[in-house]
Amino acid sequence: MKIAIDGHSSCGKSTLAKALAKKFNFIYIDTGAMYRAVTLYALKNEIFSNGLINEALLKDALKDIKIEFRRVGENLHAWLNGEDVESEIRKIEVSRYVSQISAVGFVRNEMVAQQRRMASNSSVVMDGRDIGTVVFPDAELKIFVTASPEIRAERRFNELKTKGDNVSYEEIFQNLKARDLQDSSRAVAPLRQADDAILLDNSNMTINEQFEYAVKLVESKIS
Ligand code: DC
Repeated sequence: MKIAIDGHSSCGKSTLAKALAKKFNFIYIDTGAMYRAVTLYALKNEIFSNGLINEALLKDALKDIKIEFRRVGENLHAWLNGEDVESEIRKIEVSRYVSQISAVGFVRNEMVAQQRRMASNSSVVMDGRDIGTVVFPDAELKIFVTASPEIRAERRFNELKTKGDNVSYEEIFQNLKARDLQDSSRAVAPLRQADDAILLDNSNMTINEQFEYAVKLVESKIS
């Protein structure tokens, strides 16, 4: 079974996807982490110059980028070329550049191929922007998650503050709005709700309410 969870930035997709994967014993794949890992690699290897991508260098670099998910204690961490980059890829510096990287067609082709391979032998919950539309258009269950931009920015602000990241609410809010716009207006695989996806606006829901709601959806598909 494939469960596709798409939606806007910082809307709680991963929290929901992780909890569902745990409950139903499916594997969980955070596709945003993969685009973030490529972005981190690009930032560290001078693939950006004056804020713009050098596509020839990026294409070449893709061959040297190995992304994996490995369990670290209770959690699944993203690893880039043998290094745990889970916390580094969440930083605002990576968030600033990730929409540019994820708009590049050949990067998307490679990530989609890897995502399909990772899910080829098991039931999976995958979250991202194009899972229900491109990666698994035939997924048994598709959920499109959203919440108001103010609420999403506040949640992300609180999360980064807890981690000790010194970043303002305003910067997060502006980054989130910019990413929404870039993600939904790009030419390749733009963020959009699949025709057969269920819309879940969690602006006024707790994490638990959202989870209970989604569990019912999964159970109805299983039965
Ligand atoms: O889910 P996230 O915020 O960690 O994702 C980071 C960025 O990656 C997001 O701005 C858009 C991009 N992305 C994408 O284009 N396609 C996906 N399937 C997942 C993420």
